[in-house]
Amino acid sequence: MSESDRRGKVTVVGAGFYGSTTAQRLAEYDVFETVVLTDIVEGKPEGLALDLNQSRPIEGFETTVVGATTTPEGGGYQATADSDVVVITAGLPRKPGMSRMDLLDVNAKIVRGVAENIAKYSPNAVIIIVSNPLDEMTALAQRASGFPKQRVFGQAGVLDTARFTNNVATALGVAVASVQTLTLGSHGETMVPVPSACFVDGTPLADVMDADTIEELVTRTRNGGAEVVALLKTGSAYYAPSAAAARMARAVITDSGERIPVCAWVDGEYGISGVYLGVEAEVGAGGIKRVVERTLTESELSALKQAAEAVRAKQADIADL
Ligand code: NAI
Ligand code: 2OP
Repeated sequence: MSESDRRGKVTVVGAGFYGSTTAQRLAEYDVFETVVLTDIVEGKPEGLALDLNQSRPIEGFETTVVGATTTPEGGGYQATADSDVVVITAGLPRKPGMSRMDLLDVNAKIVRGVAENIAKYSPNAVIIIVSNPLDEMTALAQRASGFPKQRVFGQAGVLDTARFTNNVATALGVAVASVQTLTLGSHGETMVPVPSACFVDGTPLADVMDADTIEELVTRTRNGGAEVVALLKTGSAYYAPSAAAARMARAVITDSGERIPVCAWVDGEYGISGVYLGVEAEVGAGGIKRVVERTLTESELSALKQAAEAVRAKQADIADL
């Protein structure tokens, strides 16, 4: 890539496992001018940025990584100023036995503060939320930033769909590239796998796998995050999650308009309104260009509507956090 093709600034807030691996993927894409990595732990983002920059001659990318220690009150945010895209990963991850909801209070405080500071320093940014519980934190960040809803969305569907695809490909012993799956709904118990959108080499999944096996893989997908947490014992997944968030940030900066499953504001699609929900959307410059409504089976549509009501109830409570 020539220097003139590289553009824009992306900030990753939170230099933990998720944030640092996201920064690495974004830098290695070599499409951004600058990747900024921040954290409240003094020196950690600067150290990781230096380390990433030292990898440039080996990996062959020219994107510059900048590390900046910030404070919850807004100190250090100058380094993030005028970002085009901001990925918010700040917050605590799950411990074994914890649900994403157990993180609600503590992460709400963190995400609110971060979103306010981002709005102040990067008023035109697109914000991608990662911190859990995802559906609630996305709604909270939109409210705290005051940004238009199409400029704030969350990462869940790319990850959940990738887990579903990996599960199907592994069970069938085929390449992941030959499998297409889809999950909608929420990042949690009301995740909605969409079998009618699942294919193996173009053949409907239901024609190559029996219903019980599909159900087992759906359950494993729904518990995909908890399965990793239980194995790691401390912290949660980050390789697949960071790949998902980085891909979304790349879609924004390259204005690709690609259709990806994200947690987006739904305004009438599928007969659902006024809630952040996992749906497919075209993502590019300015964030969500269009929520895409596909034909669902009756049971898939009913599950999506149930998911919408479940997350609507939870998102209604964020005003009090
Ligand atoms: P981690 O504990 O490794 O990193 C979190 C980082 O956030 C820490 O370095 C911490 O110092 C920093 N932080 C805390 N308050 C901050 C603030 N005000 N400003 C800047 N940085 C701050 O956790 P990890 O694994 O990176 O996970 C981060 C979040 O992502 C968690 O909430 C986790 O549950 C969530 N997650 C979401 C997924 C999704 O699909 N949406 C998937 C995996 C994790
Ligand atoms: C995951 O799905 C914990 O949300 C996190 O890996």
